[in-house]
Amino acid sequence: MSARVYIETFGCQMNVADTERAGSGLQSAGYELVDSEGAADVILFNSCSVRARATQKLFTRIGEVRSSRLSEKPVIGVMGCVAQLEGQALFDNPSISLVVGTRATDRLPELIDRALNGKNHLIDLDERADGEVWNIPAAQRHSKYVAFVPIIEGCNKFCSYCIVPFSRGRERSRTADDILAEVYGLREHGYREVHLIGQNVNSYRPKSEAGLEGFKGATPFCKLLRATAATGMERIKFTTSFPRDFHPDIVTAIEENENLCDWIHLPAQSGSDRVLRAMRRGHTRDDYLRRIETIKQARRRLSLTSDIIVGFPGETESDLEDTMKLVADCEYDGLYIFKYSERPGTPAARLPDNVSRQEKTARFLALERVQRRIQRRIYEGYLGREVQVLVERDSSRSRTDKTGHSTCHKVINFPGESVALGQVARVQVRTANPNSLYGELLDVA
Ligand code: SAH
Ligand code: SF4
Ligand code: F3S
Repeated sequence: MSARVYIETFGCQMNVADTERAGSGLQSAGYELVDSEGAADVILFNSCSVRARATQKLFTRIGEVRSSRLSEKPVIGVMGCVAQLEGQALFDNPSISLVVGTRATDRLPELIDRALNGKNHLIDLDERADGEVWNIPAAQRHSKYVAFVPIIEGCNKFCSYCIVPFSRGRERSRTADDILAEVYGLREHGYREVHLIGQNVNSYRPKSEAGLEGFKGATPFCKLLRATAATGMERIKFTTSFPRDFHPDIVTAIEENENLCDWIHLPAQSGSDRVLRAMRRGHTRDDYLRRIETIKQARRRLSLTSDIIVGFPGETESDLEDTMKLVADCEYDGLYIFKYSERPGTPAARLPDNVSRQEKTARFLALERVQRRIQRRIYEGYLGREVQVLVERDSSRSRTDKTGHSTCHKVINFPGESVALGQVARVQVRTANPNSLYGELLDVA
């Protein structure tokens, strides 16, 4: 009987995509993937290290698994960002026998094979091999309708608070040929939406132009957007955009192509120039607002979301006010607010973390209040309007409701017992909830 492997994923879309690739490689090598830890011979945690809480969650889960499977001793491995950063030190935890870095997913089958044959303390933190296969068969994807397509890995930006450049290494772009072949393949398999993903998608810079010939664009990413639109994939989204590299031609490309969706995620992190400098973001408040201006002036209304960190070392009340003002001015459709979390080894970790825990919480709540007010107004603006919803699953709240995302990436629920998953439904919005819209089904495309 082949060994059964369970992979649990924490963190961002990049980890979700890596888990899919890992699973695909394991199945080709003859392993069976299972969707719960109970029956698994090998349990892998694809870990995240972006904030302290994410790392703690990993160790809590390892403890739980260990105690529930005490007598059987499955192989427990850590892959992803914590694996890459902590390396050998993870073996201080006696439960862990396998450590697989962020660029070693393709070598997993062989590593697991050795672990199952009794080898302990196996570790691989090396770079990706040349010519690695990125395509993932449809069957291994997290969704049958929405697919994540990595276009660039790693990060060169070194924002002072962030661990990602250390866990993911330098930026490496896939060739457009490779990406477009994947998108065509997904389309053939019935996928209706792709997300081009990367820590900074608009820093996309492949080694060759292969696949981009004939497409206009001010940057390689703008060309890639147009080339992806030309595949005919029905809905195309992309995250994350880095403000400094955000070229206005991205907005032009969206205006020109209906299948490039009306949503941009452009994290500001702060509205204070002093804090932005200390964060080494490479943009000022004015630079950022100029980008927002371009987005707001687009011919189609583009939905806009952002990330903000509160309580960065040295952040004052007046810095926070600058951020609240920026958030109010940008009128985001959605905002992810994070309390600053010190990450060992980053430049910001050398600064005294002088905003107390209580103060961070107070600032989080104050900013959340500002956003909630704006968001209510924006969501109410959708009342009576029609949205195109990709029906992704049954609602967890009601047996008769379905749920999915609009092209502008809002969560939409609607009564749709008769609607099959994977369809695109035209829904008229009837109710605005704080973080979702509720509507009435008009018809199915
Ligand atoms: N590459 C993207 C996002 C990377 S991580 C970007 O540059 O925007 C996702 C989000 O986590 C970041 O946008 C940031 O808001 C948050 N984050 C990263 N490091 C953090 C830290 N040390 N403490 C709190 N939040 C952090
Ligand atoms: Fe982290 Fe900055 Fe890179 Fe985003 S751009 S991953 S915040 S270092
Ligand atoms: Fe976390 Fe690594 Fe993504 S730190 S957010 S899983 S790149």
